[in-house]
Amino acid sequence: MSHRINIVLFGIGNVGSTLISQLLESQQLFLERSNIELRFPIITNSTLAFFEKDGVKNQWEANFAQSAIPFRIEDIIEYVQNQELDNLIAVDATASKELVQSYIPLIQNGFHIVAANKIANTLHGDFYAELRRNLKKFDKQFLYETNVGAGLPVINTISDLHAAGENITKIRGVFSGSLSYIFNRFGQEDLTFSAILKEAEKAGLTEPDSREDLSGNDVARKLLILAREVGFNAEFPDIKITTLLLPNLNEKNTKAQYAISKELLDKPYRIAKLTQPEEHVLRYIGELDLKEKTLEVKLVSEPRHTALGQIKGADNLIEIYTQSYGEHPIVIQGAGAGKAVTARGVLSDILRISENIKRQESVSLKV
Ligand SMILES: NC(=O)c1ccc[n+]([C@@H]2O[C@H](COP(=O)([O-])OP(=O)(O)OC[C@H]3O[C@@H](n4cnc5c(N)ncnc54)[C@H](OP(=O)(O)O)[C@@H]3O)[C@@H](O)[C@H]2O)c1
Repeated sequence: MSHRINIVLFGIGNVGSTLISQLLESQQLFLERSNIELRFPIITNSTLAFFEKDGVKNQWEANFAQSAIPFRIEDIIEYVQNQELDNLIAVDATASKELVQSYIPLIQNGFHIVAANKIANTLHGDFYAELRRNLKKFDKQFLYETNVGAGLPVINTISDLHAAGENITKIRGVFSGSLSYIFNRFGQEDLTFSAILKEAEKAGLTEPDSREDLSGNDVARKLLILAREVGFNAEFPDIKITTLLLPNLNEKNTKAQYAISKELLDKPYRIAKLTQPEEHVLRYIGELDLKEKTLEVKLVSEPRHTALGQIKGADNLIEIYTQSYGEHPIVIQGAGAGKAVTARGVLSDILRISENIKRQESVSLKV
């Protein structure tokens, strides 16, 4: 008997549409290998939803364009109930604040949640706790491996170590693909900071407004997610963030001013580069020190021969220090952004939940 899993996908942008392609490509494989049949009976963007009870097929884009209709969350819940769809997973491939407010109603109506969206884990601790209370009460899972390091196995590794009682003492690393790229090139090449920043923007590595990367807030959010994962109940304002922006070039400038003033960044970063010790490079890192109970986002000067000093391209690199591993951290390195690796990470979360559903169904069949 196969185990049919019904996935409602919110967001069909970069990550969501790649997820549909990856899943449709591997659908038969999952069925043959694990007896798990994954399908998307509902897919949505911010305003429209397309309903196809047996799951969308390869021509989903044309079908969506032709037949998608306006929706509210209540319509989604009503549809799955009327169609008697069970084994439900809601996938959040959006960056929406509003959708996060629907997580608890979705859980209460039978959904597990998989999120690429970081917002639920970075809101106030009260919401974080309330969400987890509901997950426990309704016996549902919430997985979000792609919140830190995209497809890299960062969150699972950290939460497995923590669950096994390992004493994690420190987590530090480069958590931003765009800032990794900028400082990796800045350390190797004789180019100005603004010239590399502009190339990163052109290559689509930064957010549409690169001040969001330079502010350090995105790195801080990832650090907060990891802190909470190991039971450190921090809030966003507890994070000490050293921004890469300047007193005279920051979020207060208009977009137009920012666009023509990036050269202001050149002098301070040239000085920072030149005043380092020999064979050192600049890295913008997040550091969670669990002994000192501090969370910091900062620019540091690293010896070139270290793991952090050697990273290339737009890679992320995360060091996990624990009592058993002593002075030699576990190191996780690789592409920390991109739609293909992120969608694959979301798919892994879906499969983990599906395996659990399968186990529960097999147990209840035996009883
Ligand atoms: N791309 C990456 O490399 C990467 C890596 C790690 C994590 N992530 C995270 O993954 C998420 C998606 O990223 P992306 O690059 O795929 O974004 P994207 O291309 O901008 O797509 C976002 C999608 O979400 C939809 N949406 C927005 N609000 C919605 C709502 N309330 N209900 C349902 N759908 C809604 C949008 O619909 P409209 O078109 O109608 O606005 C669009 O289809 C983000 O949270 C991002 O931070 C991305």
